[in-house]
Amino acid sequence: MDRPKILATHRLFEESRAKLSEYFEVEYWSDSDRPARSEVLHRIRDKEGLICLITEKIDDELLGAAPHLRMVANIAVGFDNIDLEACTRRNVAVSNTPGVLDETTADFAWTLLMAVARRLIEGDALARSGGWKSWNLDQLCGADVWGKTLGVIGFGRIGRALARRAGGFSMRVIYSDAVRAPSEVERELKAEYTERDELLRQADFVSLHVPLLPETRGLIGPRELAVMKPSAFLVNTSRGPVVQEAALVTALEKHQIAGAALDVYEREPQIGHGLLRPNVVLAPHMASASVETRTRMAMMAAENTIAFFQGRRPPNLVNPGVWTK
Ligand code: GLV
Repeated sequence: MDRPKILATHRLFEESRAKLSEYFEVEYWSDSDRPARSEVLHRIRDKEGLICLITEKIDDELLGAAPHLRMVANIAVGFDNIDLEACTRRNVAVSNTPGVLDETTADFAWTLLMAVARRLIEGDALARSGGWKSWNLDQLCGADVWGKTLGVIGFGRIGRALARRAGGFSMRVIYSDAVRAPSEVERELKAEYTERDELLRQADFVSLHVPLLPETRGLIGPRELAVMKPSAFLVNTSRGPVVQEAALVTALEKHQIAGAALDVYEREPQIGHGLLRPNVVLAPHMASASVETRTRMAMMAAENTIAFFQGRRPPNLVNPGVWTK
């Protein structure tokens, strides 16, 4: 019997390739550059499954070019690159990779927070430049992290993992979310539920952990930035469009906030010129990029695909409407 044909828009990792080869005929995109849209549209024509990254836009145009497509496995927890409604309408199952990247992403949000507060990137540049003359009392003085107030916007798995880290730094943790966390979670993490504006007013560090949805697009704009303390920092490891980038640049220019540390941008891979400032730490969307986590994410996408084509419900199906078996 013919094995289902799958397109993987990345070469993945050895372990997931070996697993997939037991079940499917897989066409991999092996270049280190991402495939052009036209390439994906061309290669998807005869495929029943797609394993893709967040750089692929899965919309009506792509679905229209893929008459045999039944399943899309996104190698990411966020799936704002996918028109879920269009997939469901065409009976295409979609899966993501939740859970495995929570701690890794929280580690990286913490890395960014520490780096911007303690001016690590400026220090590194000075150390490498050959221009460092001597220890000096007021050289590269940053802001303390310990004992400050951490404001977590979006208190899901990653937001909570970040809050847990704050305990080691004797910080006060406040959070806001559309849904209040159970009281045992609040107790365990010593986190106080706070209205968003109040959080913005009180926090020394505001860290964003919401998915990109119509309700969260542009969530941090001129008004929110104006409410923040002039000494506060903004950390974003969620999705770029959650922050209005032009408003952030203006707030930085006007010293309405002390700095920002960003892993995500409104129009990746473009980074607005106005963000290239010493008090902004910039990372190229890498919060989940540990070898362990990325290997596991690719494996989860493989496992979801295998489950689907074996007639089992994919463990991380995000559009259950397509599952009627
Ligand atoms: C990466 O950004 C993800 O959503 O997993």
